[in-house]
Amino acid sequence: MNDDPKMRVRKAARLSVAPMMDWTDSHCRVFHRLMSRETLLYTEMVTAPALVRGGATHLLDFEPAEHPVAVQLGGSDPAELAEATRMAVDRGYDEVNLNVGCPSDRVQSGTFGAVLMRDPDLVARCCAAMIAAAGDVEVTVKCRIGVDDQDPEVVLPDFLDRVADAGVGRFIIHARKAWLAGLSPKENRDIPPLDYDLVHRMKSTRPDLHLSINGGIASLDAAEAQLAAGMDGVMIGRAAYHDPAGILMQADSRIFGRADPMDDPVAVAQAMKPHITRHLEDGGKLAQVTRHMLGLFAGRPGARHWRRVLSENAHKAEADASLIDEAMAVLA
Ligand SMILES: Cc1cc2nc3c(=O)[nH]c(=O)nc-3n(C[C@H](O)[C@H](O)[C@H](O)COP(=O)(O)O)c2cc1C
Repeated sequence: MNDDPKMRVRKAARLSVAPMMDWTDSHCRVFHRLMSRETLLYTEMVTAPALVRGGATHLLDFEPAEHPVAVQLGGSDPAELAEATRMAVDRGYDEVNLNVGCPSDRVQSGTFGAVLMRDPDLVARCCAAMIAAAGDVEVTVKCRIGVDDQDPEVVLPDFLDRVADAGVGRFIIHARKAWLAGLSPKENRDIPPLDYDLVHRMKSTRPDLHLSINGGIASLDAAEAQLAAGMDGVMIGRAAYHDPAGILMQADSRIFGRADPMDDPVAVAQAMKPHITRHLEDGGKLAQVTRHMLGLFAGRPGARHWRRVLSENAHKAEADASLIDEAMAVLA
């Protein structure tokens, strides 16, 4: 069964790090991968128009070390999403995910993201076109439980069933509504109440669908509780970004049953140095990498020194990978 690429990625989806614009770029994913070999990692959203009409194919760049890695696409035109899916699959992504959860204005103006909760038939057509283009690679959907004045008890089951009829077998459900008018994207991640119970009921009434739950899950204890409640997978966003060691370093043993956890944050920081040096040689800036690493020692002695040395110095012209050693000086 492990030879089936879809099954391999489904196994990884037991725990995933959420797609987060401006946060989960390739540097961030390389860093996260040093703490967990098993957890599924998602890209930031990449829009199909940017790839297909804008020719911005660099948005699909990733490093081989990032596998298993899923690309998240935004869009609502079936033919364009199919073309973007082909491009992503050619690049070697392990999963292609459609964003039906993002509430930002920019995204609404192009009919992407959460507003598509209102049009499950269009989402179904988009997914059917993506599946036809994806070959062996699984197409998944990340959605909300509803938007605005919709009743999630009615809307979510109908959405899942219609999109599943188009061939989608795996969903990630952010367990709160998005309010498209009146709340900022940030408020839309906190203010609408979470309804885990509804998502659990979707799983118990649809045992054949692979369902991951997302939203407000801030520890591995909470992730384990969701798996024990019957969910197939748990997606963690902000907590994984702000406390990557706290979430990811124990994930391989606690979530995936491996006996060889990567549990030394100092070794993780050291292991980032070759990546940093390559990035600088390619003309990149140190802070583009280290900004994702500020939370590495969260809650541990020396965390403030680490954060301060990196934030105050990483942007300087002469800064290089040796700043990592300087920032760890008080940790050693
Ligand atoms: C900075 C930031 C950017 C985000 N960008 C995306 C995105 O591109 N696509 C998406 O589906 N969700 C995006 N989200 C939402 C997350 O994927 C996730 O659904 C949300 O943060 C709730 O999970 P959490 O409570 O574990 O953080 C973003 C969240 C944050 C904090």
